[in-house]
Amino acid sequence: MTAQIIDGAALARSLRTGFKQRAESLAARGHRPGLAVIIVGENPASKVYVRNKLKACEEAGFHSLLIERPAGISQTDLLTLLAGLNADDAIHGVLVQLPLPAHIDAHRVIEAIDPAKDVDGFHVANAGALMTGLPAFPPCTPAGVMEMLKSAGISPEGRHAVVMGRSNIVGKPMAMLLLQAGATVTICHSKTVDLGAITRQADILVAAVGRTKLVTPNMVKRGACVIDVGMNRDANGKLCGDVDFAGVADVAGWITPVPGGVGPMTIAMLLSNTLKSAESHV
Ligand code: GUN
Repeated sequence: MTAQIIDGAALARSLRTGFKQRAESLAARGHRPGLAVIIVGENPASKVYVRNKLKACEEAGFHSLLIERPAGISQTDLLTLLAGLNADDAIHGVLVQLPLPAHIDAHRVIEAIDPAKDVDGFHVANAGALMTGLPAFPPCTPAGVMEMLKSAGISPEGRHAVVMGRSNIVGKPMAMLLLQAGATVTICHSKTVDLGAITRQADILVAAVGRTKLVTPNMVKRGACVIDVGMNRDANGKLCGDVDFAGVADVAGWITPVPGGVGPMTIAMLLSNTLKSAESHV
């Protein structure tokens, strides 16, 4: 293996220690940071993600509120719930875990979150702020990736960054953050022709597609930094990313593991955004 591993779990742990101190200082002044998480239905992966988010909140000394609703909840009831959280002074961050059941319009729900409490950074006001370079809550996963690059001493400036995936949660905001950091950015997606020809140009390759072992060693330039955002289960139910880790680690200069890579950083950035929100409400 030639690649250096960027250890997201260790980086997240060290960031969370700092967050805990900031939370304690806010709590001492009567402003404990508070995060509300809404989960609708019984999606097992969503339940695990939400549990991990709330656990991290508790460990950092935040106030956390878990709101579980059945898959059959009406959109109106969900919007009413959000209006209550928007008005609640003890809550600085509101997160609705996605995906939502098909009968609910996820866009309508996200737009009902107060942008000042939208710690996921999914509201159009925050997405637009990111696009135009104004301060905003950056979406947690891409923000976590930027922190990982920084920790590894990799500056995107002047580099070719290739983002695989065009979702609103990861691909698009990831491209924006890399662009803002001075990279030349290419976004690939399911309709891209000759994916490998593009990924082989990448100095920084971010895989956010959701397909096990999509990224093989022949798709990676020697010495590149490969960031794996994938969270998939293989045939044995084992958690794995979008990158063939063992193969690509022999070609890349840096690589992130799954688990223990981007996942813990997503949670750390959620805490960071919630703290930022709480600090701005003091
Ligand atoms: N579903 C998958 N990732 C996320 C995320 O970062 N936030 C929310 N709210 N839902 C998700």
